[in-house]
Amino acid sequence: MQQILFNTPLQDKKYFDNVKKLLNSKASLHGPGKNIIQIKKDLKKQFGFEHVHLTNSCTAAMEICALMMNLKKDEEVLMPSYNYNTTASSFVRTGCRVRYCDIDKSNLMPTFEDFKKNVNKKTKVIVVIHMQGLPVDYLGDLKNFCKRKKIILIEDAAPALGSYVKNKPVGTFGDFATFSFHETKNYQSGIGGLLVVNNKKFKRKSDLVFDKGTDRTYVVSDPNYHKKYYSWVELGSCFRLPELNASFLQPQIRDINKVIKYRSNLYKRYIKNFKIWLNDEFTICNKLKHKYKYNYHAFTIILKKKEREKFLKYLKKNSITAFISFEALHLSKVGKNFLNKSDNLKNTDEIIKKIVRLPMHNKLKLSEVDYISQKVKDYFHK
Ligand SMILES: Cc1ncc(COP(=O)(O)O)c(C=O)c1O
Repeated sequence: MQQILFNTPLQDKKYFDNVKKLLNSKASLHGPGKNIIQIKKDLKKQFGFEHVHLTNSCTAAMEICALMMNLKKDEEVLMPSYNYNTTASSFVRTGCRVRYCDIDKSNLMPTFEDFKKNVNKKTKVIVVIHMQGLPVDYLGDLKNFCKRKKIILIEDAAPALGSYVKNKPVGTFGDFATFSFHETKNYQSGIGGLLVVNNKKFKRKSDLVFDKGTDRTYVVSDPNYHKKYYSWVELGSCFRLPELNASFLQPQIRDINKVIKYRSNLYKRYIKNFKIWLNDEFTICNKLKHKYKYNYHAFTIILKKKEREKFLKYLKKNSITAFISFEALHLSKVGKNFLNKSDNLKNTDEIIKKIVRLPMHNKLKLSEVDYISQKVKDYFHK
């Protein structure tokens, strides 16, 4: 049996052909060129994103948010500890504090209550994570809560492009939303990302921070702009997605529904197999609860017992590469510095070593899903 990979980046001849087309045209690899402009158009058409920046990562998009917020030393950003580290470090490096909240064991995301009970006078930002592409389903209520409390809401939607809450795409609720086009995501440019700016007050500032903290964009493209030369006007950095990477991504944006359809068949096959064979050995993350359109980014299970290392080793022996997802931030070398004595992260502590992600990607075959399911069954029924 050939090794079954956990992930294979989305690759298709037509994506490579589009890169060749750009190279043959000898157009600028820096951009923004035809590909970046087309991606923005398509994102607007498909998801209604009005003001966006294509960045070199989701991390870069979050760093732009943090630079725009410019919080003070004792001001806080609330987020789950079960999270990607740069979501926290983007803020920490600007000098403010992060506060961790707990998660629900069924879907690995905080409940509305988890957020509410950790808000205090210092809370300036809440970052909600659409974990593994699953949409947080109380976004509308959270948005109203944040508005009332004058808190900025950021959706970290790294793997969630194409997921919805009710009929609204993920990324249209928060003041900002960040997405990833890292090669582990459904659609990819090697590395890459997207910042959606929904809060009108920040549109201009985001343009400046995005472009190395300069007003170059206006000097180059706005004939009515009052300056002839660009200069340093905000604290920013080099966050741009190069046109070269965008040329690989551009045709994928039109394939989003096709990509999701393929993954949904794999996901449903896992569910069907496990429904017949297994009922009490693990829980399938959010199996019953996600009632809105999901982009089928991941298939995640939560083991009942703390036997993850043994389970992963067994899968590896059977040519299956599975993965653990993240470690909790409050247990990491740097992240533990932001843990308060009173923080209650009971659920996170309990399940953090039991989370396993099974292979899920657009080169995976249904027959391989059947093989993986059979091996998982054998493990528990041996
Ligand atoms: C929730 C979350 N946020 C942020 C990131 C960082 O994305 P990138 O690698 O594009 O910076 C990831 C990456 O997997 C993630 O899962």
